[in-house]
Amino acid sequence: MAYLPTFLLVLSFVVSLRYLDAAHCSGSPPTGTPNLNGIDEGAPTFVRSVSNGKLYEVGSGEDAFKIVHVWGTPYQMGYAQGSLVKNETQQMVAAVWKYMEDQIAVPINNTIHFRNWFLYDVANLGLDLALDLEHLLTKRFTNPAFFDELRGMAEAAGVDEKKLMRIHLLGELTKGSCSMLGAWGQSLEAANSLLQLRALDWAVDGPFKDFPQVTVYHPVNSTYGIPFANFGWTAWIGSITGMNSQRMAISEIGVSFPDETFGKESRVGVPFTQLLRDILQYDTSLNQSMNRITNSRRTCDLILGVGDAKIPAFRSVEYSASAADFFDDTNMRPEASWHPRISDVVYHGMDWDCPAFNEVLAKQILVNYGSLTAETVIRDVVPIVQTGNVQVAVYDLTQNIAYLANARASYETGPTYAYERTYIKLDMGKLFSERPPTQ
Ligand SMILES: *[C@@H]1O[C@H](CO)[C@@H](O)[C@H](O)[C@H]1NC(C)=O
Ligand SMILES: *[C@@H]1O[C@H](CO)[C@@H](O)[C@H](O)[C@H]1NC(C)=O
Ligand SMILES: *[C@@H]1O[C@H](CO)[C@@H](O)[C@H](O)[C@H]1NC(C)=O
Ligand SMILES: *[C@@H]1O[C@H](CO)[C@@H](O)[C@H](O)[C@H]1NC(C)=O
Repeated sequence: MAYLPTFLLVLSFVVSLRYLDAAHCSGSPPTGTPNLNGIDEGAPTFVRSVSNGKLYEVGSGEDAFKIVHVWGTPYQMGYAQGSLVKNETQQMVAAVWKYMEDQIAVPINNTIHFRNWFLYDVANLGLDLALDLEHLLTKRFTNPAFFDELRGMAEAAGVDEKKLMRIHLLGELTKGSCSMLGAWGQSLEAANSLLQLRALDWAVDGPFKDFPQVTVYHPVNSTYGIPFANFGWTAWIGSITGMNSQRMAISEIGVSFPDETFGKESRVGVPFTQLLRDILQYDTSLNQSMNRITNSRRTCDLILGVGDAKIPAFRSVEYSASAADFFDDTNMRPEASWHPRISDVVYHGMDWDCPAFNEVLAKQILVNYGSLTAETVIRDVVPIVQTGNVQVAVYDLTQNIAYLANARASYETGPTYAYERTYIKLDMGKLFSERPPTQ
C-alpha cells in the first residue's frame, strides 16, 4: 500500500511520455564531432591471482578497466570472480539495488524506463516480490549453470545470492536504445574481413559506469562451453556485449517503437541477457546461434546481431515473442527511405522505427564506404551518430581484436559518453589463451 501513490505518479508519467512520443522514436542526433583520441594499445598488467582466477588492469590512466580471467566449472568461475573483485562486487550489488529503488521511487528524469507491467507489480507487491515473480516466469528457461555461477560469486564475495539474482533481471525490465552494424566485403578497407559494432545507450547516470570489466571465461571442458569474453561490469554475468574464441560477437538493441510484425511481448521465457550469454558460451557457428534464437522461448522486442568471422557473415534479427527474422544486406528491415539497404552492410540506429538516427548512421556508413575500419567507425561513425553513451565495442572479428570504450566513471574526468572517450584495444586471441594460475 505504501507504494500506491508512487505507482499513480509513475503511471501518469508513463502515459504522458507515450503521448508525447507518438509512434516513432523522438529526437534526432545533435551535431556530433569526430573522436580524435588515439587508441590505447597498452598490454594488460597483472594485479593478482587466486585459485581459478587472475586479475589484470588494462588502459592507462582514466580509461582503465579490469580484466578478470576465471577457470573451472560455473560455480568455480563464479567463486573466482567473487574472490578477485570482492569489494567491487559488494559495492556494485549495493549500488545497483539502490539505483533500482531510486528509479522506482522518483521516476522523473529517469534514464532506465521500467516497463509498465513491472511498475504495476512493484506497486502491488513491492520491489523484492516483483523481481521474484519475474524470476519465477523466467527461471525454467534459464541455463542452470547461470545460477551455479551466481551462487559461487555470492559465496565468495559475501553478497546476498537472492539480491544478486534479482539485479540480473534488470535487462528484462528496462529498455536500452542502442545501435549496431555489421560490415564486410566491398564496404571495408580490408579484404575478406568482418567488422561489427555494438553501441550501448542506456543509463549513464546509473552505477554501471563505475565498474567496467571484461570477464574472460575459460570453462573446464566443453560441457560448460568454449572460452569467451563478457564485456560489461563487475558481478554482472548476463551478456549484452562480448566475443568468443570462435571469432563470433553479439550486438543488441531494445525496441520501444516496433511495427505490427513484432506481435505481442511475453514475460514468460528466457531473459535475453542469458540467451546472448549462451550464444557466446556455447555457439561455435552463426548457424548454431540462428537455431538457438529460432528455437528459444523469446520474451521482449529487440534487434539482435550476431557475427561470425569464419564465414564471414553477420545477421541482425527482428526478435520478439513471435518473430525471429534474420536479415542480411539484401532483406534488411524495416524497409523505409530513412533506412536504405547498403550492399555488404547491415545496420540499425537506436530503435526499429527511428528515422532520424538511422538516416545519420546510413550517411556515415556511405561517407566511409570502402574505407570502413575499426578506426573509422570509432572516429567518424559512432560519435557523429552520437550513439553508445554507456559503452561501445567495435569488433574486428577477422583480426580477433576488440576495441572497448566506457562512459566516464564518477571518479574520472573528461567527456561523459563512451563514444567520446579513449578506446582500449584488446587482443582477444591472447586473452583466450591466458594460462591458468599455477597455485
Ligand atoms: C572498494 O570499492 C570502492 C568502489 O569501487 C572503492 O571506492 C574503494 O576504495 C574500495 N575499497 C577498498 C578497500 O579497496
Ligand atoms: C531533474 O532534472 C532537473 C534538471 O537537470 C533537476 O533540476 C531536477 O532536480 C531533477 N529532478 C529530480 C527529481 O531528480
Ligand atoms: C566436465 O567437467 C565436469 C566437472 O569437472 C565433469 O563432471 C564432466 O563430466 C566433464 N565433462 C566432460 C565432457 O569431460
Ligand atoms: C544450419 O541449420 C539448419 C537448420 O536450421 C540446417 O538445416 C543446415 O544444414 C545448417 N547449415 C549448416 C551449414 O550447418
